[in-house]
Amino acid sequence: MNRLELSYEVFTRRAGATTGSPVTPDEFRDVLRRSTLGERRPVDDLERLGRMLDNSNLIVTAREPVRRLLIGISRCVTDFGYCCYCSDLAVDEAAQRQGVGKELLRLTQEAAGEEATLLLVAAPNAKDYYPHIGMTHVQACYAWNRRR
Ligand SMILES: CC(C)(COP(=O)(O)OP(=O)(O)OC[C@H]1O[C@@H](n2cnc3c(N)ncnc32)[C@H](O)[C@@H]1OP(=O)(O)O)[C@@H](O)C(=O)NCCC(=O)NCCS
Repeated sequence: MNRLELSYEVFTRRAGATTGSPVTPDEFRDVLRRSTLGERRPVDDLERLGRMLDNSNLIVTAREPVRRLLIGISRCVTDFGYCCYCSDLAVDEAAQRQGVGKELLRLTQEAAGEEATLLLVAAPNAKDYYPHIGMTHVQACYAWNRRR
């Protein structure tokens, strides 16, 4: 798969304006599985995946232009003014290391705006990826982890 053959789309949902989710729960589950991130996401609970999509307000997708197969996704929550949390960045294994993840994050950062800090938690196998593409490692970061 050549990245030039993919079509990238940016979906935002701002206060007062609602649009449907650009991705169905089935598609989301499928790309999570094809990327391997499915091992770390609740892919057996479609209703929960639906809530995650419905309440995201910035989603960037990469799709094959003809089949419209979802090849990559960046799913985020942002206020478009100060912060943007990218919860899931996933690229189909067949399309990895061809610039898709980097383009998804570039479009995500552009849509969140220059006033917003883009934050994310690296999966173990992606911990070298983020510094490689120029992101800063933040030391003072704390969490109360989800219980399930
Ligand atoms: C991590 C992931 C999103 C990266 O997307 P990608 O499209 O494969 O990466 P890109 O093509 O944008 O890579 C850009 C650069 O980073 C490098 N890179 C890619 N994956 C890397 C990794 N896991 N570790 C270190 N470097 C990596 C590429 O070789 C490329 O280097 P170059 O610019 O010097 O040629 C993708 O591999 C993926 O979905 N992995 C499985 C799910 C996952 O771990 N997601 C992250 C959750 S936090």
